Amino acid sequence: RTRLVVLVSGTGTNLQALLDAASAPGYPAVVVAVGADRDDAQGLKRAERAGVPTFVVRLADFADRGEWDAALAAAVAAYDPDLVVLAGFMKLVGTAFLARFPGRIINTHPALSPAFPGVHAPRDALRYGVKITGCTIFLVDEGIDTGPIIAQAPVPVRVDDDETSLHERIKSVERALLVDTVARMAAFGWTVDGRKVTIP
Ligand code: GAR
Repeated sequence: RTRLVVLVSGTGTNLQALLDAASAPGYPAVVVAVGADRDDAQGLKRAERAGVPTFVVRLADFADRGEWDAALAAAVAAYDPDLVVLAGFMKLVGTAFLARFPGRIINTHPALSPAFPGVHAPRDALRYGVKITGCTIFLVDEGIDTGPIIAQAPVPVRVDDDETSLHERIKSVERALLVDTVARMAAFGWTVDGRKVTIP
């Protein structure tokens, strides 16, 4: 089965969806470790409950971002992943990390890229007044939510939505899209040609 290392910063419901899916024998991927950039990430507890090893690599423990990034890459590499999944990981990974897992790092974003990059996508979508937003799974590159798109799904904005209600509705679609996309990547592989990602 395809080996996943999942990185989280927060609640970890996307991680939980992967853990739940991977507990079924037919799922083609398995979560071999979960890492975080902070000790209080709830996702770490989810991993522990599932019996999955965890690690924490805190930026504050390093002299600069480059050293942190290299240490994070080494911690992930120790679990020999086929695919690295950023699931609500709220820090940008750097060049050492990208070079270590080329074309094998995916991230989820709660908007339809290229709209609303950054950490406040549901709020930005509401403020802009779009009627449809959604979620995006993409291959991580050096930019902020700019990498080649693997999969997207739409979510309608309701007239009475606030940031929380909209984000929660996006997240329920996002979890299913992540589980499905990881399964297809694990089962069939993927190719990248410029910005075009194909799962055969
Ligand atoms: C998800 O909606 C994810 O797309 C978003 O944070 C949430 C994490 O939820 N990530 C970003 O906005 C990254 N820029 P979770 O911790 O419950 O999986």
